Amino acid sequence: MDETRTKELGAYRVLGLVGRGGMARVYRCQHKHSGQIVAVKVLELSADLNGLALFEGEIRAMQQLRHPYIVPLQDYFLSPELAYLVMPYFENTVADRLSVRLYAPREAAQALAHLAHALDYAHSLGYIHCDLKPSNLMLDGRDQLYLADFGLAKSIGRRHNQQAAFGTPLYMAPELTEGASADVRTDVYALGVLICEMLSGHRPFEAERVTDYFYLHQRAVPPAPSQLNRVPPALDAPVLMALSKSPAERPQSAGEFARLFQEAVARLPEAEQRWNAPLCERPAIVLKPVKSGSGLLRELNEQSTHLRQLEALAARELQPASAPPQRAKGANQALMVVLGALAVALAALIIYLLLR
Ligand SMILES: Nc1ncnc2c1ncn2[C@@H]1O[C@H](COP(=O)(O)OP(=O)(O)OP(=O)(O)O)[C@@H](O)[C@H]1O
Ligand SMILES: [Mg+2]
Repeated sequence: MDETRTKELGAYRVLGLVGRGGMARVYRCQHKHSGQIVAVKVLELSADLNGLALFEGEIRAMQQLRHPYIVPLQDYFLSPELAYLVMPYFENTVADRLSVRLYAPREAAQALAHLAHALDYAHSLGYIHCDLKPSNLMLDGRDQLYLADFGLAKSIGRRHNQQAAFGTPLYMAPELTEGASADVRTDVYALGVLICEMLSGHRPFEAERVTDYFYLHQRAVPPAPSQLNRVPPALDAPVLMALSKSPAERPQSAGEFARLFQEAVARLPEAEQRWNAPLCERPAIVLKPVKSGSGLLRELNEQSTHLRQLEALAARELQPASAPPQRAKGANQALMVVLGALAVALAALIIYLLLR
């Protein structure tokens, strides 16, 4: 890209690449005059035709959302050739922190309280975040948490096409894979996954393929945090409530979830509140299917059209470019069978001629 060659983006000097997401790269930059260190998110224009519209949406959301725990917009530039937005630079994210140390229950409750404050505010203005995950949660030097990345944020109540429904499948509420529109409870489900991960180091579900995540979120009973690591079992109930398959059975707002979780933490003995579980390998857990007939969930063989469309889309995305098409593999097998049959017939003919 141009900006890495010139090492400049408008008034900002590029110091280095921080990371790359689904549709943008984030650079650590310095303002040429003030010397301020900032993060500049540059849209990869070729990546997706929808990209510019999503990026404009992210800028609009950031302009509107002014909150002490939401990463603010400092500057932006939009043109058909180059689009970027400027925000404060953070040394760490929750993803970085989780690779080193898990959250003690009390720390998790405090982080969740701040996050819920930011989310309730965004929800009250009609924004559903739809992409809650550790790399979108920034941390300052005092481990204070800030919510970032409204690139996939949706307006409450509006239905969205399948492409726009894609957040991260790892945190995606079951109803989203069934074509329902996002609402406050969609974010509450992702918060449940997030808190489980912050406490135990593991998300409830792990899978190889995107489509498997869809199934698991829809169909499998989520393991409790205490099954995934040495997390106090008394914290299981609020987390599992947030992970309910049915939105109606979840806490009805981020704030309510934070309150329920805080109450459970407060009932723990002081030492347990402060103790963080060690990082550990994911234990082997046999997942159980949710009871059929629970109303919301469909049987595997009755998948909705929407889910099948999502699966087809995901399969296309995951198909390696070099993989031979399945049809060619099938044709090769058929050829081998025919050749084998011919060889057997020939051998039989030779034996017959010899015995005559
Ligand atoms: N203001 C910031 N300060 C420091 N790092 C940031 C900042 N904003 C984003 N990052 C980091 O830059 C990287 C790329 O961010 P980006 O949002 O593009 O991708 P992502 O969050 O990994 O995935 P997605 O595209 O799904 O959001 C991530 O590691 C993210 O944590
Ligand atoms: Mg991000």
